[in-house]
Amino acid sequence: MITQEVNPIILGIESSCDETSAAILKGFDVISHIVYSQMIHKKYGGVVPELASRAHEHAISQVVHSTFESAKLAPGDIDAIAVTYGPGLMGALLVGLNYAKGFALAQNIPFIAVNHVEAHLYAPMLEFTKLAPPFLCLLVSGGHTMLVDVKGVRDFKILGTTRDDAAGESFDKTARLLKIGYPGGPVIDTLSDSGDPGAVKFPRSLLEPDSLDFSFSGMKTAVLNYVKKHNEPNDQDKANIAASFQEAVVDVLKEKVRRAIVATGHRQVVLAGGVAANRRLRFELKKMADHMGVDLFYPPLEYCTDNAAMIAATGVMYYRKGWFADLEIGAVPNLKL
Ligand code: KG4
Ligand code: ZN
Repeated sequence: MITQEVNPIILGIESSCDETSAAILKGFDVISHIVYSQMIHKKYGGVVPELASRAHEHAISQVVHSTFESAKLAPGDIDAIAVTYGPGLMGALLVGLNYAKGFALAQNIPFIAVNHVEAHLYAPMLEFTKLAPPFLCLLVSGGHTMLVDVKGVRDFKILGTTRDDAAGESFDKTARLLKIGYPGGPVIDTLSDSGDPGAVKFPRSLLEPDSLDFSFSGMKTAVLNYVKKHNEPNDQDKANIAASFQEAVVDVLKEKVRRAIVATGHRQVVLAGGVAANRRLRFELKKMADHMGVDLFYPPLEYCTDNAAMIAATGVMYYRKGWFADLEIGAVPNLKL
């Protein structure tokens, strides 16, 4: 007889980059979720690792405390703790990881070590509770750009990945070049509303005709050359460049997803990672998905960017399988999927 899935109460902790986050889930129900985004990096135009570690150290106790307060629960109510152990910045990871180890020891509960990238793949399942593998996932974040054939929990095949920059990285670098702020993704997304996406024809690198890999470095160079040639772009020029750049990235991502749908035959497509917050990308992929008769799922904004709810959700799945980690496990900055 198939038994009902257990619905453990899991505390999730995330501190791999510049978000200090904690969440408490009961099964896939998010009881409370807090994300503290570090603002200190804005003035440097990118995440400064040492400052990130310090800010996590400063914030983590308060973030966890507030999460319990808003859930109206106590540490003794938690069945297991799940935490990101990689990939990410070493010092940043260590803050969350060691906090979670201490919590697990103190409460004598199972400890679950989560791969941050894997957690991004499952994030849409927080919103769409009926969504389950198999599905095709386009994971686009600041550190990763990949197409993944998700067959089950910890059962995937990477179909394509970036050969140079990640999609989010190219947004961030372009924004830095245009001096319009950080992080680049949301800024370009907003600025593009007042720009003409057809103003500049940036190259769309699609690689070999059947390739599912990505390359964004050529596009970045093209933006650099364009900006150099057109000295001191005014506000309207910047909006046009932003919109044209965004259009080029979206065109490439769209074509790669189309190829992957054709190659795999998947009928469910999931969009995940920080760049999944991009409105133009969502709009264009939805149009294409409808046209191809496939279902497209994308998480709400709060689950697109780094968050602990997706870490706790992965924890729920691991808990059900009994996949617990040893407290000796260390942080792995370059952890692979
Ligand atoms: O998933 P995430 O929060 O962190 C990583 O694991 O990398 O992704 C952050 C990335 C940044 O590069 C940011 O610029 C990008 O996601 N991003 C966006 C948008 N919101 C965030 N890119 C394009 N459009 C957006 N609206
Ligand atoms: Zn991430």
